[in-house]
Amino acid sequence: MDSIRIRGGNPLKGRIVIGGAKNAALPLMSAALLTSDPLHLDYIPGLADIATMGELLGVLGCSFSVRKNGGGANIARGTLATPAIKNITAPYDLVRRMRAGILVLGPLLARCGKARVSLPGGCALGPRPVDLHIMGLQKMGARIDLAGGYIVAEAPGGLKGAEIVFPQVTVTGTENLLMAACLARGDTALVGAAREPEVTDLAECLVKMGAEIEGIGTDTLRITGKTELHGATHRIVADRIVTGTYAMAAAMTGGELELIGAHPEHVQAAVDYMRQAGIGITSAGNGILARRGADGIRSVDVTTAPYPGFPTDLQAQAMALMCLGDGSATINETIFENRYMHVPELSRMGADITVNGSIAVVHGVDTLRGAPVMATDLRASVCLVLAGLAAKGDTVISRVYHLDRGYERVEENLAACGAEIERLKEAA
Ligand code: EPZ
Repeated sequence: MDSIRIRGGNPLKGRIVIGGAKNAALPLMSAALLTSDPLHLDYIPGLADIATMGELLGVLGCSFSVRKNGGGANIARGTLATPAIKNITAPYDLVRRMRAGILVLGPLLARCGKARVSLPGGCALGPRPVDLHIMGLQKMGARIDLAGGYIVAEAPGGLKGAEIVFPQVTVTGTENLLMAACLARGDTALVGAAREPEVTDLAECLVKMGAEIEGIGTDTLRITGKTELHGATHRIVADRIVTGTYAMAAAMTGGELELIGAHPEHVQAAVDYMRQAGIGITSAGNGILARRGADGIRSVDVTTAPYPGFPTDLQAQAMALMCLGDGSATINETIFENRYMHVPELSRMGADITVNGSIAVVHGVDTLRGAPVMATDLRASVCLVLAGLAAKGDTVISRVYHLDRGYERVEENLAACGAEIERLKEAA
């Protein structure tokens, strides 16, 4: 397993191009199961999770290829085509590696009336059930059993439209049912739907594919089912979590980064929070400019919430930022039960954090100190990179395969902006 070594203390200065969002690309790839025509996705990010989803779709009969300049100069284009479903089983060894594999359930059922998808199982963040995905598909007429760790679903006469009310917001639950509804007979309403920009991006692509969807961007999506969808070409929305991550990196290192292609309106809650913390965020050309304000980092409380609230996927990064705050900040993680695994690792670097249930209190310190630390999940790993960039001395982060799932060329991007960072390849 590779590690990353960082010698902290250099202010980051330069420009970073923000790629397509991982959490938009994954459902968009799964949408290719809904049609036999090719689907072209531009700005597809080069990430481990994208490769895993491509592998999973390949098992089902969907081809996936990426051309580096397929969408134009420096625009990677992913092309997917599913002439026919050749297998209905999404195997455990792939879904276990990436829980977003659950996103093939709705499209498979919609396309061919059958699906056998491994339960994703828990992950470091908590149990991560999929009961709302199943509830919605049952309301659409699917018969669903759980057998041997698999969801076995059948809708021999096809899915039918239904009104589905979510008792709580689920991003991939909304996406699974949105895709299923596009090929159902009749009308479907998704009430209490997730409003994340990635959900909106999927809906906009489905409309390009011939779907009929009203209420895009709101918490009530109304879909009129069609007998089939056709291919399309779609530009994947920029990754708002990567945007927020690099903006905080600029602040923590006392530097200034121009984030090309960023959509500030997709991270408004995070922009508001960073501005309260004293970070200068301004629009600049085709993106945003982020830099630490003159009077350092102010400690600011934050509570995670579904969009448009502060994203849980930026919680670990905000905690790293608050480690250098001028006072105490309270962080309340309301989405996942166990999303504080980065706390003991930050503490090894001299952070002063106490956790009680969903609440973490971060007392700012003058400096963090480099140390050997271990990545535990995708966003925790990048929070350790931020801490290492700001710390005095060397930090070595092990198990960086977590990082490779969601951050493209992170060492290259940071090194190009002045960081002393290198990947230590594990001896084969
Ligand atoms: C998506 O996960 C993202 N992943 C996550 O990003 C993100 O943290 C999360 O949404 C919240 O924004 C992708 O989009 C691929 P949820 P998802 O269903 O859809 C509970 C990252 O770092 N729930 O919105 O799996 C669940 O346990 C990843 O990129 C049920 O109880 O999250 C959680 O507490 C991490 N039953 C809450 O809802 C269900 O059927 C939100 O989960 C579904 C969810």
